[in-house]
Amino acid sequence: MASTNVAVYPGSFDPITNGHIDLVKRTLRVFDRVIIAIATNPEKDQSLCTVEERVTMVREVFRGLGKRVKVDTFEGLLVDYAETIGAQVIVRGLKAISDFEYEFQMAMMNRELKPNIETFFMMTGESYFYISSRLVKEVVGLGGDVSDLVPKKVLKRLKAKFALRG
Ligand code: PNS
Repeated sequence: MASTNVAVYPGSFDPITNGHIDLVKRTLRVFDRVIIAIATNPEKDQSLCTVEERVTMVREVFRGLGKRVKVDTFEGLLVDYAETIGAQVIVRGLKAISDFEYEFQMAMMNRELKPNIETFFMMTGESYFYISSRLVKEVVGLGGDVSDLVPKKVLKRLKAKFALRG
């Protein structure tokens, strides 16, 4: 039987931000375990960081939380992945009103595909309402300061990536 105590938190995590971290911590108040599932799509991948780098960054961030947080990658449909690992719940963060339509469509499509898997939405912490991985990358690439928005190690990696690009 699938466990109701496991939540899958899927996303691109390119890179993980303080908003994601806040969401994982709050999800752990409700669920025993969270699987952070990094989506991979080799054909369409336009990510700044490789999958391996994203996994490493997430692992570094959650090192202290032991077995309650696991990092994994998946290819293909999220609901198939969730079913394979025996999770019945997908967690997504909602930041602004603009997120709603996209999230609503995904939740409805996922429900259409697998009605037994539920999507739970958590409101992003108020300090993180405006953070997105996309904006973080843009600002770092242009030399702006995002040290309050991502962990130090993530920032270091991002800066190194942009330095390599020249
Ligand atoms: O962090 P993101 O980029 O908003 O995450 C989007 C993600 C990875 C959750 C979504 O694109 C996804 O579920 N991809 C896996 C493929 C899939 O199941 N697509 C149908 C979604 S209804």
